[in-house]
Amino acid sequence: MALRFAVLGQPIAHSLSPQIQEAFAQQLGQHISYEKLEVAPGQLKDTLARMHAEGYTGLALTLPHKVAAVALAVEVADPARIAGATNALIRRDAGWRADNTDGAGLVRDLKDHLKLGIAGKRVLLLGAGGAARGVLKPLLDEKPQQLVVSSRTPWNVEQLVAEFKGHGPVRASTHIALKGFQFDLVLNATSAGQQDRMPRIAAGVLAPGGACYDLNYGQAHAPFRAWAQSQDAAVVADGLGMLVEQAAEMAQLWYGRRPQTAPVLASLRGQHAR
Ligand code: ATR
Repeated sequence: MALRFAVLGQPIAHSLSPQIQEAFAQQLGQHISYEKLEVAPGQLKDTLARMHAEGYTGLALTLPHKVAAVALAVEVADPARIAGATNALIRRDAGWRADNTDGAGLVRDLKDHLKLGIAGKRVLLLGAGGAARGVLKPLLDEKPQQLVVSSRTPWNVEQLVAEFKGHGPVRASTHIALKGFQFDLVLNATSAGQQDRMPRIAAGVLAPGGACYDLNYGQAHAPFRAWAQSQDAAVVADGLGMLVEQAAEMAQLWYGRRPQTAPVLASLRGQHAR
């Protein structure tokens, strides 16, 4: 019988998760079904209980459920506990175990596909929302020289950074206060691109030869790409590689084996230019 999986979110129509996971399952010889479920925040608790009762093996979570689902899990793995967010649920007898593969996916894409090391680098992370929260600890584990997290206003970013101080050299800034500082790697974890916008960043923050990486992909990536190009970035990448890598980490949790990501990423690139 096929193992049952699903991705839950709102909106969910455009999720690439089924396509990616079906490709991985085929590679690994797993017989699966993979559904896409539109779930409103108020329905999350009942939906998770029902899907556990119905025998699902694993669930992927996307916006807006990543934070709320942590409190609904019977076990929480360190990456999800530290991030305060989960994108991956794995079946346990008593309920769901929450994990988080977003940060590991980002680090894998940076290092394996793009050959962008983080160790010893000055790294700037734009944004202080859920996406930033999910990747902070895995980035710090790579031992950057410094990780600055910046947002439009000081309050939310200072609160976020305070939670991660114990994990490495991280500090908070506003976008404006970045003036005069330079970074080897600039990561965009804001959702501004979804409104076709780019945060207003002080000029000159990208060091010569520096790289720019966007956690967004598709249309939402366009404003950051334009900004990165205007700053003469040596490398500009979207988040499609991270999407595939976080899914591969999830497949590893579900099946105990890691699929190959390069062919799946290449096939998505064929469909989604850049
Ligand atoms: P997510 O949960 O996906 O991270 P979010 O919480 O809606 O998404 O937003 C993430 C970040 O995008 C926030 O930090 C927000 O910036 P501020 O902290 O400065 O408010 C940022 N963001 C959203 N829209 C933006 C815009 N138009 N310009 C600049 N930053 C924006």
